[in-house]
Amino acid sequence: MLIYPLFITDDPDEETLVPSLPGQKRWGVRSVVPYVRSLVEKGLRSVILFGVPCKEGVKDPEGSAADDPEGPVIQAVKTLRKEFPDLFIMCDVCLCEYTSHGNCGVLREDGSIIRDKTVRRLAAVAVAYAKAGAHAVAPSDMIDGRIWEIKQGLIDNDLAHNTMLMSYSAKFSGNLYGPFRDAAGSVPSHGDRRAYQLPPVGRGLARRALQRDIEEGADSFIIKPSTFYLDIVSDAAEICRDYPIATYQVSGEYAMMHAAAEKGVVDLKSIAFEAAHGNLRAGANLLITYFTPEFLDWLDE
Ligand code: PBG
Ligand code: ZN
Repeated sequence: MLIYPLFITDDPDEETLVPSLPGQKRWGVRSVVPYVRSLVEKGLRSVILFGVPCKEGVKDPEGSAADDPEGPVIQAVKTLRKEFPDLFIMCDVCLCEYTSHGNCGVLREDGSIIRDKTVRRLAAVAVAYAKAGAHAVAPSDMIDGRIWEIKQGLIDNDLAHNTMLMSYSAKFSGNLYGPFRDAAGSVPSHGDRRAYQLPPVGRGLARRALQRDIEEGADSFIIKPSTFYLDIVSDAAEICRDYPIATYQVSGEYAMMHAAAEKGVVDLKSIAFEAAHGNLRAGANLLITYFTPEFLDWLDE
């Protein structure tokens, strides 16, 4: 049920705390292994990988580094598959960590997204991750038509039968992604993600996006953020009744709970469980959360 997000960078030995994301680190492909081993020993079953390229000059307008065979995500997938044969490995698929402008797609001069080019890039990236051994690919870009394009890419490469396509179908724009963008170095320099992510009032849009992604071939659905959007989770449970449904308790939610606990407003452990239970009650059956390592301890107490 618990999926742990991991930030993987291109220095193999890196282990750096992300200041705005309490307790979370940026890892290298080598240094992450003993850490993941300690979690697997406590019962960890699944991770979602995010690439954080830090080397000078790797970012370009098309996000070419996203599927660099020597890049952090592909290298991490291969290493983790080999070291932990029972670990379920998901890869977030997006371009924003790799584009020089920090947006999730390829842009025109005026800052708008070139749809066709973007979804072709995303499909190539997803196929590359699946080929490297990812069990699931999870596109988080929100560009129209990417699920169909990725599914077709997986089919064409004979990967569709063993790669789960988990769509961030209902991803809302808003205030809760700040610490992640800090961790991943993906703050947009220009352009605006509100052009492709859902507006917080857009319940109908989210329902339509969920429906559309079923039609385009998604195998599972992610709602993000989580606790502010539990009506959407419950909508997803109804619309995508026969599919696994995940919520992503995003960086801002996690950081807020930590901040509130530090102020003495809440008790961290209780609020973490309360939020998780809210998500499950609304209809999620998978939880992507930075609290995963703590839950592995707390659930054993
Ligand atoms: C990349 C992506 C983001 C998150 C997951 N995938 C950042 C964003 O869209 O800005 C957010 C995760 C978090 O905040 O914890 N598109
Ligand atoms: Zn993105």
